[in-house]
Amino acid sequence: MNVTTAPTENVWTIVVAAGSGARFGGPKQFSMLGDRRVLDWSTETAHGVSAGVVVVLPANDADREGGVVGGDTRSESVRRGLAAVPADATIICVHDAARPFASAHLYREVISQVHRGADGAVPALAVTDTIKQVNALNVVVSTLDRSTLVAVQTPQAFNADVLRAAHASSPEGTDDATLVEQLGKQVVVVAGEVMNRKLTTPEDLEWARAMTRTES
Ligand code: C5P
Repeated sequence: MNVTTAPTENVWTIVVAAGSGARFGGPKQFSMLGDRRVLDWSTETAHGVSAGVVVVLPANDADREGGVVGGDTRSESVRRGLAAVPADATIICVHDAARPFASAHLYREVISQVHRGADGAVPALAVTDTIKQVNALNVVVSTLDRSTLVAVQTPQAFNADVLRAAHASSPEGTDDATLVEQLGKQVVVVAGEVMNRKLTTPEDLEWARAMTRTES
């Protein structure tokens, strides 16, 4: 393990990559990005900062890639990954494979917060757009105070016992921090990274490919 901020911890990372890519139009985790696939970028960084990595994949791909089979929802996929994490893990990170540029530094930041006592830690960026709530007819209902809002990323790190407890009743959420918050536990925010964009649409993949060309 290469976690200089938390040498006494047994850090494991779950990389969730079992989505069907409905908004993308296919399984984007296997798309090429520079010299390797989106999934490879995500798992390589995770390996650098973790004692072990569990990769959660669609049923057709799990055997070939040496991963575990995911579920119908992101939360269910995380639970299947959790089942493969050793019982003696002390900190568990969860990362979306769809964020290939998350840095090792970012992992260390969230891991460090949990090592120092937080139940969970997430990266986030300030919101720069004005955010409005709309109803089903697309009519504005209210305007939120963006100074109190942040846009949350992965990797998210958790005390292992807390993450297991948060998933015990099989709840659903768009990230794991939501489930930990629902237990009344403390989740802290660290500075996110602009490059840590989630690849959701084909345009996002084009952006990521342009970034790899710029960097090389
Ligand atoms: O769809 P969403 O943006 O929430 O996906 C975030 C991450 O969760 C992606 O990396 C995707 O592959 C993963 N996921 C999963 N199992 C699902 C749905 C999404 O592992 N059933």
